[in-house]
Amino acid sequence: MTRESPRKAILVVMLTALICSGLVSAAVVMLRPIQLNNQMLDQSRNIMQLTGLLPADGQLEDDELLDLYKTLDRRIVHIDAAGFDGEIDPVTFNLSRADNDPELSVGIPPDQDLASLGRRSSYTPVYMVWDGAQLDRIILPVRGNGMWSMLRGYIALESDLNTISGMTFYEQTETPGLGDQITHEHWLEQWQGRRIYDAQGNPRFRVNEGAVQPGTAIAEFEVDGLTGATVTGNAVTGMVHYWFGPHGYRDFLLALREQPPQRPVEDTP
Ligand SMILES: Cc1cc2nc3c(=O)[nH]c(=O)nc-3n(C[C@H](O)[C@H](O)[C@H](O)COP(=O)(O)O)c2cc1C
Repeated sequence: MTRESPRKAILVVMLTALICSGLVSAAVVMLRPIQLNNQMLDQSRNIMQLTGLLPADGQLEDDELLDLYKTLDRRIVHIDAAGFDGEIDPVTFNLSRADNDPELSVGIPPDQDLASLGRRSSYTPVYMVWDGAQLDRIILPVRGNGMWSMLRGYIALESDLNTISGMTFYEQTETPGLGDQITHEHWLEQWQGRRIYDAQGNPRFRVNEGAVQPGTAIAEFEVDGLTGATVTGNAVTGMVHYWFGPHGYRDFLLALREQPPQRPVEDTP
């Protein structure tokens, strides 16, 4: 039996490792556009389901969905200036990146950080849906730390900028069967028609502990609690209070109420 030289064995191992890493890198590079396309499709689907523009049966081919999504009036808001920004391109803006970019984000004062975020982007994309020349709804991104994970979603408001027309979570990894009840359709449906602000303009919406008691003064601000998942439910309440409070969208929404936005001219039917 011939003894193989150790040098040859090492060479074979190294060559194999090199070929394998080359294959993995090539796969990553080749799959990246597909992955990005899937992410964009997923995000588009989440946003489009809040617009009220999808056909009743919800069936749209991916291309049709993306085409419809691209027609949305998408704008960038400077949250701290409580108005629209005219410089950043809403198509290429990356919210997650901006959240962690010291130049584009601000620290959140601890006493106001009800969503446990630490800091947030000064800029945010918003999506506006028009009914003729009137604003029909506005869709705003929200996020906050749950029990185990970052909860990311969108809230759509009706034209009164107070009544919720829809809610969706597109990212979370709370415990299946417990915290992940926030993604259950029948629970999210309860958000429709609930209000965020009370008559004094304070965020009042909350995830109740237990079932909502119809007919009570607070019922219009509440959705049912999540059985066995009060921690995630409270985190959702905190998230809504942060984003619609003074460090979040409150001043922007007040400014919109004062001066209603105009539908872009090129968009008008
Ligand atoms: C392994 C494990 C995972 C849990 N995951 C969650 C979760 O994702 N969200 C949550 O709110 N509570 C979760 N809980 C339960 C919380 O610790 C806590 O008991 C619960 O939120 C209290 O809600 P309740 O008052 O409705 O029982 C988990 C508990 C265990 C042991």
